Amino acid sequence: MATLGVNIDHIANVRQARQTYEPDPVQFAFLAELGGADSITVHLREDRRHIQDRDIFLLKDTIKTKLNLEMAATEEMLKISKKLLPDYVTLVPEKREEITTEGGLDVKNKKSYLKDYVSSLKNSNIEVSAFIDPENEQINSSGEIGFDFIELHTGRYAEFKGQEQIVELSKIIESTYHANDLGLIVNAGHGLNYQNVKKIASINNINELNIGHSIVSRALAVGLKKAVSEMKALISTN
Ligand code: PXP
Repeated sequence: MATLGVNIDHIANVRQARQTYEPDPVQFAFLAELGGADSITVHLREDRRHIQDRDIFLLKDTIKTKLNLEMAATEEMLKISKKLLPDYVTLVPEKREEITTEGGLDVKNKKSYLKDYVSSLKNSNIEVSAFIDPENEQINSSGEIGFDFIELHTGRYAEFKGQEQIVELSKIIESTYHANDLGLIVNAGHGLNYQNVKKIASINNINELNIGHSIVSRALAVGLKKAVSEMKALISTN
């Protein structure tokens, strides 16, 4: 059974819309945990458009589950993560102009840079994941570099309908098995919601699903604790 990582960036988006102190993502992490979150995910972006440095340090001190820090593989983020020591780091590509993370990290074409980067994080006892598209070349490169986990990008699966979605689902299933054969632990996420999560959650050996937008959206109607527990129930009943 997959565990549930709840991404709370959108709570910080609302706060930053007014550049004020509320809503505080740190308080909402507590509610997500009460609802059954197994880990809390935050993306510290270079432009600090939502999550702030203060959030990640307070989360590290207060959450009872695990902290997954999403970040770009930059020198600035390396320094911050080594100071923070989150349970794990997920490396993502980052572009200033994007609304959310688009596409997976191009591990294949950045092998030598990422190899040193990943071993530096691992030397600080931080486990490292690569957010990648479900493609064998990216998976093989992630294995060679020494990532502990990969997070398969489910954005295309979420976007597609009908036959195209079935094809994308099979890619994710095959990629999961392939990555497992290489000794990689497989997480998945992006675009997952209350309608499309079950097929991904029922793939054997998916370790964790990272979900943000749909849970925070639902929380506006029912509250975050309930939104998380509803998602957790969907993931758990396969
Ligand atoms: N995984 C990664 C690597 C992401 O960048 C995001 C979006 O921040 C998510 C999962 C969650 O995606 P969504 O908000 O669409 O659930």
